[in-house]
Order: sequence, then C-alpha cells, then structure tokens
Amino acid sequence: MKFPIRLSARRKAVALSGATTLVVAGLITLPATMAHAAPGCDITYTTNDWSEGAGTGGFTGTVVVKNTGDALTNWTLKFAFPGGQTFTQGWSATWSASGANVTATALDWNKNLATGASTSLGFNGRWTGSNPKPTAFTLNGVTCTTGGVTPSPSTSASPSASPSASASPSASPSSSPSASPSSSPSASPSASSSPIPGVKVDNPYVGATGYVNPNWRSKAIAEPGGSRVANTSTGVWLDRIAAIAGSSTTMGLRAHLDEALVQDAANGSAALTIQFVIYNLPGRDCSALASNGELGVDELPRYKSEYIDPIAAIMADSKYRNLRIVAVIEIDSLPNLVTNLNVAKCATMNSNGGYVKGVGYALNKLGAISNVYNYIDSGHHGWLGWDTNFGPTAVKLKEAATAEGSTVNNVHGFITNTANYSALVEPYINISGTIGGQPVRQAKWIDWNYYADELSFAQAFRNRLVQEGFNSNIGMLIDTSRNGWGNCVQTPCQSIQTTRPTAASTSTVLDTYINQSRIDRRIHLGNWCNQAGAGMGERPTAAPQSGIDAYVWIKPPGESDGSSSLIPNDEGKGFDRMCDPTYTGNERNGNSLSGALPNAPISGQWFSAQFQQLMANAYPPLS
Ligand code: BGC
Repeated sequence: MKFPIRLSARRKAVALSGATTLVVAGLITLPATMAHAAPGCDITYTTNDWSEGAGTGGFTGTVVVKNTGDALTNWTLKFAFPGGQTFTQGWSATWSASGANVTATALDWNKNLATGASTSLGFNGRWTGSNPKPTAFTLNGVTCTTGGVTPSPSTSASPSASPSASASPSASPSSSPSASPSSSPSASPSASSSPIPGVKVDNPYVGATGYVNPNWRSKAIAEPGGSRVANTSTGVWLDRIAAIAGSSTTMGLRAHLDEALVQDAANGSAALTIQFVIYNLPGRDCSALASNGELGVDELPRYKSEYIDPIAAIMADSKYRNLRIVAVIEIDSLPNLVTNLNVAKCATMNSNGGYVKGVGYALNKLGAISNVYNYIDSGHHGWLGWDTNFGPTAVKLKEAATAEGSTVNNVHGFITNTANYSALVEPYINISGTIGGQPVRQAKWIDWNYYADELSFAQAFRNRLVQEGFNSNIGMLIDTSRNGWGNCVQTPCQSIQTTRPTAASTSTVLDTYINQSRIDRRIHLGNWCNQAGAGMGERPTAAPQSGIDAYVWIKPPGESDGSSSLIPNDEGKGFDRMCDPTYTGNERNGNSLSGALPNAPISGQWFSAQFQQLMANAYPPLS
C-alpha cells in the first residue's frame, strides 16, 4: 500500500468536531415466530481469546441477549465472571464492572426489545489462567437461560452488584442517535448461519468464522513456525482478470467460494465470512510503481465487462447465498485522487473518471448481491489524518459511491491501513497534549497530523463519512496483519529502537519523548514497503471497538509489497525505489531511508524472510 503522505501542514490546532464515538456494533433482530410468556431471556455468550504468554491474555466477548418474554422498553443485564477475569471496556450498552460483577444497561437505540428480538453487545476483558464462561445471567433481575439451558441457581449472577464502579465505556448513547437499528434490519449473528434472504446483517464478522485461504495457508505452514498462524483468515486478492479463473496452482473465485462452502459446513452453526479484494482498476496504483496493474488508464470498459461483471455473476450464484462475502474495494485509488494530483497518472485517472466510475460500478454491481458486503478502502491515518485530506477524501468517497448508478446503500463500510504498517493504538501519545510545553502535534514524527494511530483515525473518519451522507450504521475494518510492532527480535530492525515501549518516555524533549514512546517504529510514517522490524498485529477479531466491524488480515503476511530492485515481469508491476533499502527517500517520506527489507520479490509474491520477521516480531506475540 503506498501513499504519499501530506507533509507539513503547519497550521494551528483546531479540534476536530464529531470525534464522539458512535455505537454501531450492536444489532437488533426482529422476531420470527415466538412462543412467549413474561418475562424471559436467553443468552449466547462467546469469546475470542488471545494469549500474551505467562498464562494471561485478553479477550473480546460477545453477548447476544434475546428477549423470550414480553416486550421490554428498557433492560439491565448482569453477569459475573467465574474465573478471575476482569472487564476493560464495552460497547453497544452502558457498561460497568465491580470486581467480577458486570452490568450492561440499554442504550436509547436498543432499549426496546420486542418479544423474540435480540441485541448483540460486546466488550473486552482480561483473563489469567483460563477464561471460563459466566454461567448465570439476569435481565432485569430475571434469570436467563443460556442457549436454551436453564442454569443452576447456585451460580446465578449477583443482582446486587454495584453498578457504580468505574470501567465506564467510551460509547456515549446520547451522542449516537444515528446508530438507530431501524436503519439496519439485521439477522441475528448467532441465530443461524443463514441470513434472512435479501437482508444483510449489520456486521458480517459477528457470529462468523473467517475463511482460511488454502493457497496462503500452504505457504504459511511450509515456513518453520508457520503453523501458529496458518489457520488465520486472510484476504483473497483478485488482482487481475486471470485471478477470477485461477490457474493450475492458484485457486480462482469459484474454487474459493466452493471451498468456503466446505469450511462453512464444518464450522457448526456459525456463519462464514470470506474476504475478496477487488483490485484491478484501470491505471492502478497511480502514484507508485510497485503495484501497477494490467489495465491501462483508458481501459474502464474492460474493467467493467471482463473483471467486475464476471466477479458479480459468480458471487451471485445462489449456491453461495449463505456465505457472507466481503468485498474490499480498490486499495489506494480514491485517496490518490485527493493527495496526488501532482502525479501525472493520478491527474489522468481523476480527469477521465476512471477511478470514480470504476469504484461506483463495482459497488453497484456487487452491492446488489444480498450477501456481498462492500468496504471501500480509505487509506490510513498517516495519509489522510490532516484536515486538508480528511474531509476531501470523505467527499471523494461519496462521489464514487454515488457514481454509475450506485447509492450509499451499496456501502457497508470502509477499511483503513490495508497493507500498511500504522500502529493500531499509540497508548503513550496524547495527540492533543504537550511535552515540555510544546504541542505533541508539532513533533517531527507526528508532523501536525490530528491522529497518532489507526483506531482513533478510523473511528473519527467513520463519523466524518456519516456526516457526508453515508448510512449511520456503516462499520470500519482495520487491517492489522502487519502492524504489531513487538520487540524486534529479528534483524534488520528499524533504527529508532528495537524494543516495544512499555511505558511513556520520561523525556521532556518533544521529539525524544515521541521517538521513545511510539509503538510504530518505522523510520518515517511515509514508509510503506516491506518494513524492517514489523510484526503481525492483532489477530482478526469481530467488533473489537465501537464503530469497528473487525480487525482483519487483508494483506496476507508474507506477500511482498514490491521488489527491492528491478525484476522484469508480465504483471505490469514496476520497481518503486521505496522498496529499495538503499533509497534515501523523497519529500513524501521526509527524505529518509525507505526502511524496506532487502532481496524482496515483486508485489504479491512470497517473501519468506519477511514472513519469518513478521512472526518473530508479532504483537501480541505468537504463542
Ligand atoms: C499486489 C497484488 C497482491 C497483493 C496482496 C499487492 O501489492 O500488487 O498483486 O495480490 O499485494 O499480496
């Protein structure tokens, strides 16, 4: 993923409006047929756990609350952790915790629960030793069944748990009237793997397992230690017309979908989400060279008829209707039309409408399919985090979403950080703070950006997109496949420092403070190719934070971003010096070294040394 960051926006800090966190992860389902008597509830409680070594770790919990009794106009859910777990933060409810006792109260938009209706809540927590499930839940003081089973009374949650304790959520119910579930009739994520025909679920990642690409898996598992990650769901890139049919060695679109049916049949009652990257615009990768594609700048007609149309025809095959197909739309394209019009090819793609029309066409065709979920690429904080780029990109995305007969209803959400390395969270950088009397934004690394990390950027950009006219229930994805930045245990590392900071620096010199405190240890935020020192990031996780549909691995770890020297090829791929470790840079990366690994093959090809490095430097570490 390339991108030309905007440099030196030397202007006064103006607080961004609309940064309030919105709540979108929850969803409500309408009842099918329901026999009922007042009161009653049923709970489905699932977790996604990860280990951080030494018998501790974190987890994301999903609680689907189903009202099996009379209609409710408000509700309070209580449960207790049985194994010493602690609550950190939650969404889609107002959460509080006191010791083991956890309380969630309804927000405005999900307080009405009709008979048979469900709502999905989420939270993050920590575990030590193991992570046993709570066995007893109450809703408005009434004991719930779990998965239809009545719990033993001795283990019931303490209804007297103090609701006053701290762990208050970031979600602000009153600030999110826009997250009205009425705009998003959704199937229950846990109820069935078959969405109601013609109705998309609010978050296609909830209640689903992720498709494991056998092609990527076999490369990953062949690497020493690769079995630790080989079963991770990664994006399937349709990066040329021939990728649709596949070859004797690479599965085509139908082969992947057929395999997805097999994996769906084997995963119990969960749904299955399969992610395709739609990546073949005319004049692709206009500001860089490493991922130039097969279609010339004027080949929009071929893009439509030889690429999008056949993809849409296959995805629309009714035998795939129960799969949740995520389409990640055209990496880097639209942001390039905002920030890189000084590059001739980008100016051409802007004036001939190739990108805007191509994206509009793809959204319209794919969005019409009832089980396809479109997420448009929207750069990353190190590209669009300045206000000269932030708002104009939202405007450009809307223009594309409404081109070629498309409407915003074809857009399920957006993705940030695709194939990039930006840290998910910078816990020791307060973007609006000061160090030694100087604003943090003035630091060389930050360069007046309004964001220091992807999570804050993605959440704020989501709000800006809603303001622009996208639906209020859109969700964001963040590619975390290579933004882990654990300790750099495998050389080469970046020059700044080799250990992941575990505390804020004590320096009062701004640049020293930032450089010692930052998780992202690139030489410059503008570096994007095969970064030395990077590690795999958060494993794919559904609904990890407010407004975020999932952390995903779209760039398959181990696939190169570009060759470190010129390698002739028949894919249209060029040689971009940002992939050459000896390159001393340009104005887009502050004339810094590229930070790229040596001996890289062309983009998309397997790069074993990079895969090994990404595993060694993973954060959370691989167990
Ligand atoms: C390449 C594609 C490849 C993708 C995933 C891109 O940079 O241009 O050919 O499929 O990365 O690795």
